[in-house]
Amino acid sequence: MQETIDRLRSEGATRIAAITEVAAIEVTRVAILGRKGDLTLLLRGLKDVSPEDRPAMGAELNRLKVDLTELLSAKEKELRGALAEVPVDFDLTLPGVTASAVGTLHPLVSVLESISDIFYGMGFSRGDGPEVELDYYNFTALNFPDDHPARDIQDTFYVDKKVCLRTQTSPVQVRYMETTEPPFARIFPGRVYRNETADASHSSEFYQIEGLVVDTNISLADLKDTVDTFVQNFFGADEPTRFRPHYFPFTEPSVEVDMQCMVCHGDGCNVCGNTGWLEIMGAGMVHPNVFKAAGYPADKYTGFAFGMGIDRIAMLKYGIGDIRLLYENDLRFLQQFRGVL
Ligand code: DAH
Repeated sequence: MQETIDRLRSEGATRIAAITEVAAIEVTRVAILGRKGDLTLLLRGLKDVSPEDRPAMGAELNRLKVDLTELLSAKEKELRGALAEVPVDFDLTLPGVTASAVGTLHPLVSVLESISDIFYGMGFSRGDGPEVELDYYNFTALNFPDDHPARDIQDTFYVDKKVCLRTQTSPVQVRYMETTEPPFARIFPGRVYRNETADASHSSEFYQIEGLVVDTNISLADLKDTVDTFVQNFFGADEPTRFRPHYFPFTEPSVEVDMQCMVCHGDGCNVCGNTGWLEIMGAGMVHPNVFKAAGYPADKYTGFAFGMGIDRIAMLKYGIGDIRLLYENDLRFLQQFRGVL
C-alpha cells in the first residue's frame, strides 16, 4: 500500500500541474477524490492494513488528501485568474472548451482562437450575433434588394418569411454599427448555414469570421496591410496576397483575396488546383447603403470589411480533405488534435 500512496503523491501532483483548462480540474478531482477515485479506494483499503500500521497510514492518506485538494484549488485559482484576462466576450460555451476537458480541442476552435489572437494583436476586439437572424439583417440591410439574384447564391433555411438561419456573419456588421459609433476594429466569428448538399467541400453549417473596421479615413490599403499581416502571422509564411475584383452587394469596391499557395509557393500543386493561389476571403470597402442602414450620416465614415471561412482555413492548415469530418464528432478524428492550440 505504501508504494501506491507514494505513486499517487507524485503522479497526482504531476497530473494536477499538467491541467490547462478549468473544466479539466473537475475531471481530475473526480478521478482522484471522487467516489471511485484513486484516493478514496486507498482510504477504503485501510481496513485490510494491519491494526498497528493503520493509524500512521491513515494519517498519511489524510495528509495526501489535504495536499492534493490544495493543489487543485491553487490550480483552479491560477486558471480562473488567467480566464479573467481573456477579452470580455469570450464564449465559454463553445463546444471546444468542453471537449478540452479531455485534452482535445476541436480544430475549428483552435483555428478560431489562433485567428482571433492575431487580430487582437492588431487592436481588434471580438463580438458575435444571432444565428437565427432576420432576413432584414442577413440581406436587406446589406444592400441585397428583395428580388436580387445575389440572394439565390445564399439559399438558406427559413423559420418564416422574415426569419432565417443566417447565411453569413455579415449581418452582425449592421447590428454592431447600429449601436456603436466609430472608430472601431472588430471581428465577429460564428456559425452560418446554407441550403447545401453535403460533399467533401460543402456543408449546410460552417463557420465564418467577419471583420469590420470603420473610421473617418480608412482605405483599401489598410485592408491590404491587415490581410497581409494576418496571412504572415497565421501561416507563418511570407506568401504574397492578391486582390481580384469581385461583386458583393455590401461592399464597393469588392475583392476576393488570394494568398500564394504555401505548399508549392506558386508553382501549382493539387492543394491549389494548379493555380498557385488559394482563395481565403471576400472583402471590400463598406457600401454607403450599409452605413445608411446602420444609421450613420452620409459621407462621414469609410471602412473595410472582410469575411473568411474558418473551415477552409482549418482544412488548409491541418491538411483535412473533407469538411464533413469537422461535424461528425468522431473521436478518432478529434483526438488527433489533442493539445493543439
Ligand atoms: N459574407 C460573404 C460571403 O459569405 C463574405 C464577405 C465578403 C464578407 C466581403 C465581407 C466582405 O465582409 O466585405 O460570401
